[in-house]
Amino acid sequence: MQQPSAWFEDEITAAVAPRLPGFGVEVVAEIDSTSTELMRRARQGSVAPVLLVALRQTAGRGRLGRPWQSAQLSSLTFSLGLPLAPRDWSGLSLAVGVSVAESLDPGGAAGLQLKWPNDLWREDRKLGGILIETALPQSESAQRYLVIGIGLNLGPREAEGLNTPPAWIGEWRPEASAGELLRAVVPPLVDTVQAFAERGFAPFAERFAQRDTLRGREVQLSDGTAGLCDGVGWGGELRVQTAAGLQVISSSEVSVRPRVRAGA
Ligand code: BTN
Repeated sequence: MQQPSAWFEDEITAAVAPRLPGFGVEVVAEIDSTSTELMRRARQGSVAPVLLVALRQTAGRGRLGRPWQSAQLSSLTFSLGLPLAPRDWSGLSLAVGVSVAESLDPGGAAGLQLKWPNDLWREDRKLGGILIETALPQSESAQRYLVIGIGLNLGPREAEGLNTPPAWIGEWRPEASAGELLRAVVPPLVDTVQAFAERGFAPFAERFAQRDTLRGREVQLSDGTAGLCDGVGWGGELRVQTAAGLQVISSSEVSVRPRVRAGA
């Protein structure tokens, strides 16, 4: 009998392809960035649905133009690319976060939480990040090509140079291999993206709220505003009660952090 690959490409493909015809899995040893590569391909007209996994990224990218550094062998870095035409894109990164968190920590016993708009957090440390991008391919179709890039810490990593101290999946699933985690995350993620395209963020709002690490906490926005976080709205927008009234933030250009009081 043939041994399964460490990355379970066949199993993942068998689970996803019936829902996403033409879907394939590629695993590469090294690349600049899985998301950069899928965006490049899409701009050149390659719009097949694909999961691209890299053992090492030499130029990983995070939100807001930040670099994304991941430790080889102790991180999982991949991008899912597919054509998508939702009525409204708002809240997609939050729905993706809900899906990934529920796959890695079903039931929530491990305390895996979500930090608006794209982070996976555990005990106020960052476990992973999600980067959502779209390309308008050079083709007849008006459909955009969606690239969802996900980076997850599997094992311990240095906190030096990071904005937020790191958490890792090995803290509660020390036996799980990168391939097993990928197999657990990707098929539900594809379901989530397709459900989002049909129904938007609203069906995910309550599930996000259950893992929302900012809700009910004092927060500080990157523009200097401070306030009390009132969770997210039905469209995925962050709600913050400030001295000047309710501020509703839908721009992913704004970053937000729990507020640390002097002396705390
Ligand atoms: C963030 O937290 O700012 C988002 C990080 C996203 C990192 C992943 S790793 C796989 C994919 N390729 C990249 O270059 N970035 C995403």
